[in-house]
Amino acid sequence: MTTTNTAINTEQAQASLALKGFLDFDIDPALDLIEEINKLKKQKNAVILAHYYQDGEIQDIADFVGDSLQLSQEAARTKADMIAFAGVHFMAETAKILSPQKKVVIPDLKAGCSLSDSCPAPLFAKFKEKYPDHTVVSYVNCTADLKTLTDICCTSSNAVHIINSIPKEKGIVFAPDKNLGAYLERVTGRKMVLWNGACMVHEIFSREQITKLKHRHPKAKIIAHPECEAPVLDLADYIGSTSGLLNYIKKSSDQEFIVATEVGILHQMEKACPDKLFIPAPPNNGCSCNECPHMKRNSLEKLYLCLKYELPEVVLSEGVIRDARTCIDRMLEISEQAGLK
Ligand code: 13P
Ligand code: SF4
Repeated sequence: MTTTNTAINTEQAQASLALKGFLDFDIDPALDLIEEINKLKKQKNAVILAHYYQDGEIQDIADFVGDSLQLSQEAARTKADMIAFAGVHFMAETAKILSPQKKVVIPDLKAGCSLSDSCPAPLFAKFKEKYPDHTVVSYVNCTADLKTLTDICCTSSNAVHIINSIPKEKGIVFAPDKNLGAYLERVTGRKMVLWNGACMVHEIFSREQITKLKHRHPKAKIIAHPECEAPVLDLADYIGSTSGLLNYIKKSSDQEFIVATEVGILHQMEKACPDKLFIPAPPNNGCSCNECPHMKRNSLEKLYLCLKYELPEVVLSEGVIRDARTCIDRMLEISEQAGLK
């Protein structure tokens, strides 16, 4: 083996560990990452899909930025050979399930999700045995294994439509988010059996702090994601998914907004309406916990490395892809019928 080959292999091994979240990888600071990423995308016929909670620089280089529903719709329709998913693991899994013939890579394999982690599939399998006649609806923020135990998947954009599509006499088990579940119970009037999970970012917003902030900005509209707890949602003028929140501020004639969701969304809000003021809702402990630590594991450097080395790849067994796909297809069908994009 030549010295050059050894150097390349060492770099690849280090990059592989970095992308799995095990070490920092030093990239030549002189490298123009944007240019390199664009070159790699072309060379490999790759597409970058990014969630609204990613850092602004990642959103800006992505081919498509969206909420969970839009990203899964895009993953299903893309003609690219490789998807680099700048989001968290369950999102990349969903892309793989919808496009199994494509290579799906994620900038950091440790980019997980507290909500998804709160509902391990083996425990849920036992739980659902108690409700054999119920329809199981799972929020897309769950593992592929959990999706194999699910009848219909949903995202925050389509959850109301999904619940309303289930015959009234049918019982529903809803997993894993108890806050979204409780919100859906209120909106649809359906009583559901809720799994006790929550998102570490959305459950930390403080009603008290938001109320104080509202006193300082009396004209501000409060907008919130339905993963927030009920006392916070009760304060909100508008509740919706990330794309719902974005559309709301674009259409609104108001000038100030207190935003109760992960702060990454402010990037698109400020781009769309530079003259309006967006104030991140404060968490209950004075820290900046309104940043999702999982989403923020991704960086431009890791995105470059993952495109270059096509690692780490999201791999699922054929059986999991087949069994998890049914509930996602049902969700996409219902969303299409409802004209949701
Ligand atoms: P949406 O973008 O679908 O609203 O989801 C928010 C979220 O928590 C993703 O992790
Ligand atoms: Fe999961 Fe919450 Fe982070 Fe979304 S914001 S990825 S639900 S931990």
